[in-house]
Amino acid sequence: MAINARIIGTGRSYPEGILTNADLEKMVETSDEWIMQRVGIRQRHKAAEGEYTSLFAVRAARQAIERAQIDPAEIDLLICATVTPDQILPSTGCLIQTELGAHKAAAFDLAAACSGFLYGLTLANQMIRGSQSRCALVVGAEVLTRYVDYTDRSTCVIFGDGAGAAVLVPDEGGRGILSTRIRSDGRYAEQPFAPGGGTRIGHSAESITAGDYFFKMRGNELFKVAVRSMTEVSREVLEESGYGADAVKLFIPHQANQRITDAVADKLKVDPAIVYSNIEYHGNTSSASIPIALDECIEAGRINEGDLVLLASFGGGVTWGAVLLRW
Ligand code: UT7
Repeated sequence: MAINARIIGTGRSYPEGILTNADLEKMVETSDEWIMQRVGIRQRHKAAEGEYTSLFAVRAARQAIERAQIDPAEIDLLICATVTPDQILPSTGCLIQTELGAHKAAAFDLAAACSGFLYGLTLANQMIRGSQSRCALVVGAEVLTRYVDYTDRSTCVIFGDGAGAAVLVPDEGGRGILSTRIRSDGRYAEQPFAPGGGTRIGHSAESITAGDYFFKMRGNELFKVAVRSMTEVSREVLEESGYGADAVKLFIPHQANQRITDAVADKLKVDPAIVYSNIEYHGNTSSASIPIALDECIEAGRINEGDLVLLASFGGGVTWGAVLLRW
């Protein structure tokens, strides 16, 4: 039987700080009613001053390692999916590696926005299938709120902070990752985007005053693209593995908007009861959203051995992907 990468431990972490819709009502012209109806978010976690991406990544990773019952020294591949790294150099992956004592790992960052965790799972799966890795750690971690303009109501109500992690090992018994698809289309590169802080615009006082490093998004233009692409890749991974949507026991989409989740589930014709949503409590945490949701599902006993689990994402770049696993 073929070798697949199988998740043997997960973890999650987020800041204690919470920003509610009532807090946002005091900051911009918005309402709890609008946010709940149009996006489905009630609250999001927000890092305090002095809290940073790798802090949450390490906490999530430690939990995943503990549950996987492995020694950090066994990890030979460490992928940190993030668009909000601690710093430009070194990678947040290398910082996490040091904190964990995962000294044998090849550690690096992967920038695929909200699809980063599924890109990471895809890469880890290929490395494990190719015998280049025996134990991989994939983390999705973000402190997005550092890049949020709290005077822009079209973005500030959406994003939250957090991290999720998964440990993967080879499995030859038919469990683990069955099929993956990752895609991108740079023609939508300005959706969402944060132009400042890099080599093109830099860190001048003018660019900071102009708010160039804040996230900008014309969300309604993305909505249909998100629904279409997540549905397409989900169908592809199911078809490749020879399953219909009715075989899926749990569907975890990226938590971008409850209406996107509902529309994708509707197009796929999956039973709403198997669709997981936690956007109400976390908002959109980009690359952290799927591993956080996965860890919550495991903790809540929503996944049993042998279940078919479908993960799908969409994010800046634009990037999208789907992963089908046999738990
Ligand atoms: O995860 C990364 C990828 N991102 C996505 O997938 C985001 C996809 N897009 C979305 O989730 C939604 O488009 C948003 C939640 C971002 C926006 O919801 P929408 O239903 O598409 O609203 P809209 O942008 O079309 O705006 C409708 C109205 C506008 O007012 P007018 O022009 O009709 O008077 C906005 O100014 O809603 C207004 N509006 C708000 N009103 C109250 C926009 N943001 C707010 C707000 N509170 N926070």
